[in-house]
Amino acid sequence: MAEKKIIAVAGATGAQGGGLVRAILNDKSGGFSARALTRDVGSDKARELARLGAEVVPADVDDPESLKRAFRGAYGGFCVTFFWAHFSPEREFAEARNMAIAAKDAGIQHVIWSTLEDTRKWVPLGDSRMPTLMGKYKVPHFDSKGEANQVFLDLGLPTTFLLTSFYWDNMIHFGMGPKKGPDGKLSITFPMGDRKLPGIASEDIGKCAYGIFKKGREFIGKTVGVAGEHLTGRQMAAVLTKALGKEVGYNDVPPEVYRGFGFPGAEDLGNMFQFKRDFEQSFCGARNLDISRALNPSLQTFEMWLAQNKSRIPVE
Ligand SMILES: NC(=O)c1ccc[n+]([C@@H]2O[C@H](COP(=O)([O-])OP(=O)(O)OC[C@H]3O[C@@H](n4cnc5c(N)ncnc54)[C@H](OP(=O)(O)O)[C@@H]3O)[C@@H](O)[C@H]2O)c1
Repeated sequence: MAEKKIIAVAGATGAQGGGLVRAILNDKSGGFSARALTRDVGSDKARELARLGAEVVPADVDDPESLKRAFRGAYGGFCVTFFWAHFSPEREFAEARNMAIAAKDAGIQHVIWSTLEDTRKWVPLGDSRMPTLMGKYKVPHFDSKGEANQVFLDLGLPTTFLLTSFYWDNMIHFGMGPKKGPDGKLSITFPMGDRKLPGIASEDIGKCAYGIFKKGREFIGKTVGVAGEHLTGRQMAAVLTKALGKEVGYNDVPPEVYRGFGFPGAEDLGNMFQFKRDFEQSFCGARNLDISRALNPSLQTFEMWLAQNKSRIPVE
């Protein structure tokens, strides 16, 4: 039997990386094996991945040598960064650079870099439509990822640039689910007007990434965007209403109001939603649903995701 090709997966105990590890392990005859990178091989999540059949190895994206060791001998590498662990675009850029250098060092044959748009290409810093944040960003957690694309290019790495979408899981983990207003009615709040928001089950990002690895060289040097559905706030509210059996409305607020909500990252997210709203065509266009489904035939719609996950959404 031919030896399996190892895919080294950053963020393996998290949403994107975890989806990829499980996709690899669920496809026993796929020809790939999963190497899960984690800072703590003894954590419950890491042990669960080992139980499922992953090789679990220690690595910290802030420690270049640990990454080099973790990537050694692998065919593929999945690189994702952790903006929300520190809220620093510079640190996120450094994480991406560390992984790219380690992938180069290890001679990785196919890298998937989980990235997002550098929004400054659409909204230059001098554009007053949205405020400049942290001195030189419009959407810090997008811009730093987009800026890091160049590191992968400069190193000549065989890279697929994977554009991800808004996780519907944010309704569970990020406080973005339906909330009761002063009138006692439930609603979701997004500053998206009547524009469509590409969304996805976070587990499906990893499954799409697996589909990209399975295609061999086809997507090397290309940018691929993935989403499960493109839905307006009103459409999302209607799907939620049906799934929860309770009326959920859509509360469309202006981006400046969203930016002022005061929770950590509110300004960044306010700008992010405004970018998605104002550049709907190019943002949705970059996340083709047919391509996503071809990469991952079990791709979920919002309704399918809710059928499995509605009880996990905290609804007051
Ligand atoms: N939420 C969304 O809608 C959304 C949409 C698109 C893109 N994104 C992007 O997704 C990225 C995060 O990916 P995710 O959601 O898959 O992550 P996640 O679920 O938050 O998981 C993070 C995992 O990363 C690992 N980690 C954190 N810091 C690390 C470090 N210094 N070294 C090594 N591993 C570290 C942790 O693993 P260990 O503790 O095991 O080390 C943790 O399990 C962010 O950059 C975010 O901007 C999010």
